[in-house]
Amino acid sequence: MATTAVKLSVLFVCLGNICRSPTAHGVFATLVDQAGYGDLIQVDSAGTGDWHLDHAPDQRTAQVAASKGYDLSELRARLVTSADFNQFDYIIAMDNANLKDLRAMQPEGYAGHLGLFLDFSEQSAVREVPDPYYGGEDGFELVFGLVEDASKGLLRHIHASHLQGTSYPAPGS
Ligand code: 4NP
Repeated sequence: MATTAVKLSVLFVCLGNICRSPTAHGVFATLVDQAGYGDLIQVDSAGTGDWHLDHAPDQRTAQVAASKGYDLSELRARLVTSADFNQFDYIIAMDNANLKDLRAMQPEGYAGHLGLFLDFSEQSAVREVPDPYYGGEDGFELVFGLVEDASKGLLRHIHASHLQGTSYPAPGS
């Protein structure tokens, strides 16, 4: 069967771009590679706030990710801008405040998907990935679990929506 030429891009957005969205960036990019979609899907992350520009992920975030086998050390924080809507097919917010900020900068006629990350989770009852920054270690573990679950769901969604009938196998198969 012919290989599809479809290229997709996914941008994860939180407030600071040092805790939740870098976790999503690192986990989802790794799952993309493991599924064999690395040549098809571009992954990035950004924040709506500018306090941590060019900073590496928060140490607590990086430590939890590393303990699960994900390396976030290359990632650096940047601001989301309206230009991102020209580039990304999926713009995925961690919580409703991020989503509100993104809707305010969304250009008219954006044809991609703008929504909440946990809408792709098949397990979680909560709809927002909680901000762990001012909380304890448990919060970072909770974020990681929510992100990993929703990343798997997003990958399944992308296969079902864009790669069905191509030579790209369903993730995990
Ligand atoms: P994130 O967490 O949005 O998941 O990266 C935060 C990081 C920093 C701040 C808030 C949230 N801050 O206020 O500096």
